[in-house]
Amino acid sequence: MTEDDQLELRRSLGRFATGVTVVTCLGDKGPCGITANSFSSVSLQPPLILWNIAKVSHSLQAYLAAEHFAINVLSAEQQQISHHFAQSDHTVFNGIDYESSRHGVPVLPGTIACFECRTHEIHECGDHYIIIGEVERFDSSDGDPLLFFRGDYHLRGNKL
Ligand SMILES: Cc1cc2nc3c(=O)[nH]c(=O)nc-3n(C[C@H](O)[C@H](O)[C@H](O)COP(=O)(O)O)c2cc1C
Repeated sequence: MTEDDQLELRRSLGRFATGVTVVTCLGDKGPCGITANSFSSVSLQPPLILWNIAKVSHSLQAYLAAEHFAINVLSAEQQQISHHFAQSDHTVFNGIDYESSRHGVPVLPGTIACFECRTHEIHECGDHYIIIGEVERFDSSDGDPLLFFRGDYHLRGNKL
């Protein structure tokens, strides 16, 4: 693939609208968080979900080693949180409110859903790893989702 092809592929993939999550875990050096829209449900029985992490991510080792992680699904009011955890210093929780799960994983308040997971399987795939988690606990509440489409945040998902 040429660089132009890659850009066009990226642009085309961006036509798939998604929600936005922050995936958290407790690493060696403390709590970690990374903005991710690769989250997807996989199976109900057993309850499995997945997300992908880039091999170049500075927190890759923490997620590969983590026995537990949480998927925090952001609300329309949490664009700043998404922005914060899309930075390279996203491991810094300074100024970010959170509670710790019973496994010490950071759980963000104000989200519209949270899935606390035990790492089930990890697959190396291209320039990413696919991380599959078994959902151990979950929670949800009302509220509009933060949406991501064509490289931009969108705040209103009108029901048709
Ligand atoms: C809306 C959005 C979705 C993202 N989804 C992912 C993702 O699914 N997987 C991933 O590895 N990075 C994703 N990123 C990029 C990471 O958040 C970002 O590269 C990372 O936090 C930068 O720090 P790092 O390289 O130190 O990990 C996404 C960024 C944004 C803004």
